[in-house]
Amino acid sequence: MHETLMLERIQGHTARLAIVGQGYVGLPLAVEFARANFSVTGLDTNLERVAALNAGHPQSPDVDPEELRTLLRAGRYRASSDFSTLENTDCVIICVPTPLGKSKDPDISFVVAAAEQVAARFQPGQLVILESTTYPGTTEELLLPMFGARGAQVGATLFLAFSPERIDPGNSTFKVRDIPKVVGGVTPTCSRVASALYRQIIVKVLEVSGPKVAELAKLYENVFRNVNIALANEMALVCRRLGVNTREVIEAAATKPFGFLPFYPGPGIGGHCIGIDPIYLAWKMRLNGYETRFIHLADAINRAMPEYVVELVGESLNHRRRCLNGARIVVFGVAYKRGVGDIRESPALEIIARLRDKGATLSYADPHVPSVTVDGLALQATEVTDEDLRETDCALILTDHPEFDFRRIVALAPLVIDTRSATRGIAAPADRVITL
Ligand SMILES: NC(=O)c1ccc[n+]([C@@H]2O[C@H](COP(=O)([O-])OP(=O)(O)OC[C@H]3O[C@@H](n4cnc5c(N)ncnc54)[C@H](O)[C@@H]3O)[C@@H](O)[C@H]2O)c1
Repeated sequence: MHETLMLERIQGHTARLAIVGQGYVGLPLAVEFARANFSVTGLDTNLERVAALNAGHPQSPDVDPEELRTLLRAGRYRASSDFSTLENTDCVIICVPTPLGKSKDPDISFVVAAAEQVAARFQPGQLVILESTTYPGTTEELLLPMFGARGAQVGATLFLAFSPERIDPGNSTFKVRDIPKVVGGVTPTCSRVASALYRQIIVKVLEVSGPKVAELAKLYENVFRNVNIALANEMALVCRRLGVNTREVIEAAATKPFGFLPFYPGPGIGGHCIGIDPIYLAWKMRLNGYETRFIHLADAINRAMPEYVVELVGESLNHRRRCLNGARIVVFGVAYKRGVGDIRESPALEIIARLRDKGATLSYADPHVPSVTVDGLALQATEVTDEDLRETDCALILTDHPEFDFRRIVALAPLVIDTRSATRGIAAPADRVITL
């Protein structure tokens, strides 16, 4: 009975939705549902974020402020920190952070806190979906008992599923609706109901046999990327020793029309996903008595990249009879990737800290990050003038933001260290522009 009613509400777009966590993942998802005429509440514990959202200011590159304002005016979206809303909600999607704790183990306290809020207000017939990236087993081992303790019967009075978020913030080609959704319900009915909801906004939805498959599929995607980035980073180390250009090697290999997928080296892994999610799997497997060797090796290689970049800067200055101590270095980009202002886990922070430790004087430019604190020291982004570039000892490109004029950087700076291949195709002597 609950299933039929819920499917009717979903298909008629009359189901009331709550998305818990209004960050990079939860907000674009909430907006997509609101665009499809659902009534959506974006729940968040961050009061400033809630106020900003209700004032029409999204903190996500994937949400157009004008569109958010239209949805607010139409009453189809509102942000709130009042969890009692959940008592009048049909479908709840949880998109809260899953970072690592101080000991580098998974910190699922946000998932636990959010799920407790939802479970405490459980209404028979509700659909609850977890989207936060997490270790396999979270949905069934952690969430299900919370609802069971409140009398919920999964598949009958509670529809519970895991569906990983795969958004790539700032990617204008693949938005929420274009990225196929994997859905694993605790029972086949849970899968059916959860998929029905996503089908209202997403072009392709794949039902898998259970939450664990969906949880693991997401982790496998990110382990795959982490391992392949590590391989590309190791190739960069190999190529430097052999005196060949890494990018040229990778692009030559990528002409093979099958069995090869190009990945490129960089200054290290950043962001909320690639460097962190694999650790969730490694941790879970350690509890199962198995060490995930690929994950550890990739992590070790990628984590050593910031130090390698510092070495490269020191060596390159040395060739020019300069030393790091006292060198003036302009860093281009502190965000962990192109086109976004996200500095979580950004390797730029470690590189800046290490360069400062060695006595370099640093300034940075980043159109997306107006200020940043490194080792307790607050730095403000600067506009880099032509004169600044001429006078610097080294321009260090750590993020290839589209706003940067790389031709100008190459034309004016005496030394450019390019960790993102941002200067490819720009003619310059090989000893003046160093790439990974
Ligand atoms: N950012 C990405 O590119 C990306 C992509 C795919 C998956 N993910 C995963 O999605 C999840 C969310 O990531 P994000 O990037 O959106 O994080 P985020 O930090 O941008 O947003 C999370 C939001 O949740 C809020 N929050 C924390 N605890 C809460 C609670 N108990 N109740 C309500 N709100 C709470 C925070 O205030 C914040 O606004 C993580 O598991 C992440 O690994 C992220």
